[in-house]
Parts: sequence; structure tokens; C-alpha cells
Amino acid sequence: MYGLVNRAVRDLVVSLRGEPGWQRIRERAGCPDEEFLSMQTYPDELTYRLVGAASEELGLPASQVLHAFGEHWILYTAQKGYGDLLDGFGHSTREFLSRLNDMHGRVETVFSEMSMPYFELQDHPSGEPERFVLLYQSQRPGLSAFVVGLLHGLAKRFGETIEVSQTDDRSQGAAADRFEIRIQHG
Ligand code: HEM
Repeated sequence: MYGLVNRAVRDLVVSLRGEPGWQRIRERAGCPDEEFLSMQTYPDELTYRLVGAASEELGLPASQVLHAFGEHWILYTAQKGYGDLLDGFGHSTREFLSRLNDMHGRVETVFSEMSMPYFELQDHPSGEPERFVLLYQSQRPGLSAFVVGLLHGLAKRFGETIEVSQTDDRSQGAAADRFEIRIQHG
């Protein structure tokens, strides 16, 4: 993954445990880099090791670390460097998600070696307007909790509250991770 992602992991850890916490996680993960260059690609394995080490250091399951990382990514990382991009692709969680592939396509013009995830938005089978379905496909395993965190971060950004439940799981053999999302009103 691009260094931008590892920088964001570092940033999250520093905000929770300070610089000494980051040094412990870096050592635990056998990570030689003190800093990451946003525009350089690093092996995916390093990112997974950092998440694993953060999970041990914080005493939380990796899924909770990924969830926190997803929220942090939207509310801080993307907000800081890519606020215009976030503003330009929608004014609600649903609208933004319907254009997420286009948005990552725009990002890919700069991060040309990125391996883009693919998302598909569908109406919910119930037809209820406040509910919808999101399918997530990727070349990478194990990131569904990251997606859930990203979704909660997006909703917070748009002043919405959402409920998310995962109904299909690629790690259990499904073709795509499938999430049912409900926007809560009032
Ligand atoms: C301005 C906002 C955003 C920017 C700049 C951005 C950019 C990126 C970049 C650079 C990567 C790394 C890809 C690589 O190194 O191969 C990535 C990965 C990813 N992004 Fe985004 N992204 C944004 C918002 C979102 C949102 C809102 C979602 C979902 C709700 C999302 C879902 C993902 C996922 C799941 C990955 C992991 C890659 C994978 O599954 O293979 N991103 N994004």
C-alpha cells in the first residue's frame, strides 16, 4: 500500500499512545521505517503487521483497530489532505458511496500504482429508502472491518448516524463482502 496509508496508521497510534507507543508498535512489527513517504508503495504485509502490532499493544482485536483506523482515515487523513475531494463527491453517505469508484479513479490519477477496491451500491430488497446495500470487492483480504469504520467516518462527516451489518463475507467464500446500511433519522 502507499505510504499514505501507513502514515495514517502511525498517526492514529500516536494520537492514542503518543510517540513511545508508536516506537513500541514499530519494533513489535519489525518495521524499519521511522517515517513513510506518502507517494512510495510499501509491501501490503507491512501494513498488516502494523495493524497486528497495534492490536497487541492496545489490547484490542485487529477488527477494532481496523474500524478505528477507517474512521480516523476519513475524519483526519482524508479531511486534512483531500478535503476538496471529499466535498466534491456527494453530500450524504449514500450519494458519496454511489460515486466512490469514480472518486478512487480520480485518486488513481495521482497514486497510479494503487490497487483500487471496487464498490457497488444497491437498493435494499425491502425498498425502504433509508436502507441500502454496499458490495465490496478487493484484491486484498481481511479489510471488511476497515470498510465498516470508513462508513461510520463518512456518516459522521455528513452529520448522519448509520447502522451497518455485514451479511456476506469473502473470507467465508462469498464473491464480495456485502453490507446492509440503514440511515437513522431523529
Ligand atoms: C478522499 C478520500 C479518499 C482517498 C484520498 C482514498 C485513497 C485511497 C488510497 C491511496 C488507497 C491505497 C490503495 C493502494 O495503496 O493500493 C485506498 C485504499 C482503500 N480505500 Fe480509499 N480513499 C478515500 C476514501 C475512501 C472511502 C470513503 C472508502 C470506503 C467507504 C474507501 C475505501 C478504501 C478501501 C477499502 C481501501 C483498501 C484497498 C483494498 O481494498 O484493496 N476509501 N484509498
